[in-house]
Amino acid sequence: MSVDKGLNIMAISGSLRTDSSNTSILKLLQTTVPQHNFWLYDGVDKLPHFNPVLDTEQAPLEVQNLRNAITEADGIIICTPEYAFGVPGSLKNMLDWTVSSGSLVDKPVALITASSVGENAHASLLKTLEVLTANIVENGTLLVPFIRAKMNSENQITDAQTEQDVQNVLKALLSAIS
Ligand SMILES: Cc1cc2nc3c(=O)[nH]c(=O)nc-3n(C[C@H](O)[C@H](O)[C@H](O)COP(=O)(O)O)c2cc1C
Repeated sequence: MSVDKGLNIMAISGSLRTDSSNTSILKLLQTTVPQHNFWLYDGVDKLPHFNPVLDTEQAPLEVQNLRNAITEADGIIICTPEYAFGVPGSLKNMLDWTVSSGSLVDKPVALITASSVGENAHASLLKTLEVLTANIVENGTLLVPFIRAKMNSENQITDAQTEQDVQNVLKALLSAIS
C-alpha cells in the first residue's frame, strides 16, 4: 500500500459481514479524515489458518503482505464485534500471524469493540495487544455495547454520544502519531 497523502492509517474490521456495523464505523471514520491515507485492510479472510510451520520469513504471500502493511502503517485502528464471548476467530488468526514477526511491536493501535455486549472480546484483545507490545494509545480504546440499537438500517450511527466517542478514538490515534 503506497502512502500518497498524510498519515498511513490501517483500519481493520473484525467482522466479515457485508453489512457489518464495525466496518461501517471504520468507513464513517474514513470520511472524517480525507487528508490522511485511512484505508481498510481487506485481507483478514484471505489469510491462511495460522500454522507455526509456515510462520517464517517466507510465510504465505498474504501473510507477508499483512506484515508489510502493518510495518508501513503509522497507526492501526481495529473495530470488532465479539463472538461467543471472545475475539472473532479470523481477527485472532490475523494477530497470531504477527507474533513472531514482531510487526506490532510499538505500533500505535486504537481499539473499538462494538458489539451486543463485547466486554470479553475487548478485554481479550487488549491483553493480546499488550502481549504483542503494541502501543495502545492513550484514550484510544472504546467499548460500544448494544451497537445494533445505535445504528439505523443503513448502518449510520444514530446515537450522538457513540458517534462522538468513535471520533474521539480516532483523534487519540491521530494525536499519538502526528
Ligand atoms: C455467532 C455469533 C456469536 C455472537 N456472540 C456474541 C457475544 O458473545 N457477545 C456479543 O456481544 N455479541 C455477540 N454476537 C452479536 C454480534 O456482536 C453482533 O451481531 C454484532 O453486531 C456483529 O458485528 P457486525 O455488525 O460488525 O458484524 C454474536 C453474533 C454471532 C453471529
